[in-house]
Amino acid sequence: MSLPLQLVSPPRVRTARRYLMCPPWYFAVSYSINPWMDPTQPVDATRAMSQWTALVDTYCALGHTVELINPEPGLPDMVFAANGATVIGATVLGARFRDAERAAEAQHYQRWFAARGAPDIVMPSAVNEGAGDLIWTGSLLLAGTGFRTEPAAHREAQEVLGIPVISLQLVDPCYYHLDTCLLILDDSPASPLIAYYPPAFSPGSQRVLARLFPDAVIAGAADAACLGLNGVSDGGSVVLPVEAQNLGRALAARGFEPVFVDISELRRAGGGPKCCTLAL
Ligand code: ARG
Repeated sequence: MSLPLQLVSPPRVRTARRYLMCPPWYFAVSYSINPWMDPTQPVDATRAMSQWTALVDTYCALGHTVELINPEPGLPDMVFAANGATVIGATVLGARFRDAERAAEAQHYQRWFAARGAPDIVMPSAVNEGAGDLIWTGSLLLAGTGFRTEPAAHREAQEVLGIPVISLQLVDPCYYHLDTCLLILDDSPASPLIAYYPPAFSPGSQRVLARLFPDAVIAGAADAACLGLNGVSDGGSVVLPVEAQNLGRALAARGFEPVFVDISELRRAGGGPKCCTLAL
């Protein structure tokens, strides 16, 4: 006799979230700074806009609040709001992009927080691509490096935010930001839970993750390859790219509700739901 699922996984508790997002008015793939981006293939900006709008509607239907920042012409990747900053409590750690093409985004995000009266905004001196590489588990900051955010930015984040930082080495250029291969499912300090794709990490970082999160959901290659780990969890519902069906089933077996969205057009720049979403 098999046990009913609710006896196996704890009840999941959803909490209302606030997200910052940026409409893809100027979305394009006009340069290539990751292996997903092919400037010779035109993107459908109208389709990107409707997929992004559906993502906003999905968050609102789940009871979350979405705040907006105006996009700037000439910054086609500004839609990926996760890279604009890292927000922990009242502190905003700004961004510093590796690539010249995205550099100007940092000040627009900084200005957005300043205009809303954020009491404590610190701009980094090392390359720091915000919550794309710096991910809060509820008690630790997991910090990716290898492609974008520099190890010096991890040390800066620990100093500025006063929270323990765990550095993780990314090794596959397709998974160039930490949020492309690792997803926080439950950020309650008592029962943190993540999903991740081990081959995106160095052997040592895989061992660190296995030690910290022994019951993590391990994603397979197909779920990683559609950027399935670039999902957004509120502790109960997890918004995922529609292609990530295996991951969706694995999450359902752990008591989460997968909520699928079509984000195919934004994926042509290497982004998914989480990249478009900065948790406030
Ligand atoms: N084209 C963008 C870049 O390469 C995509 C950013 C995706 N953002 C993320 N949080 N993973 O920078």
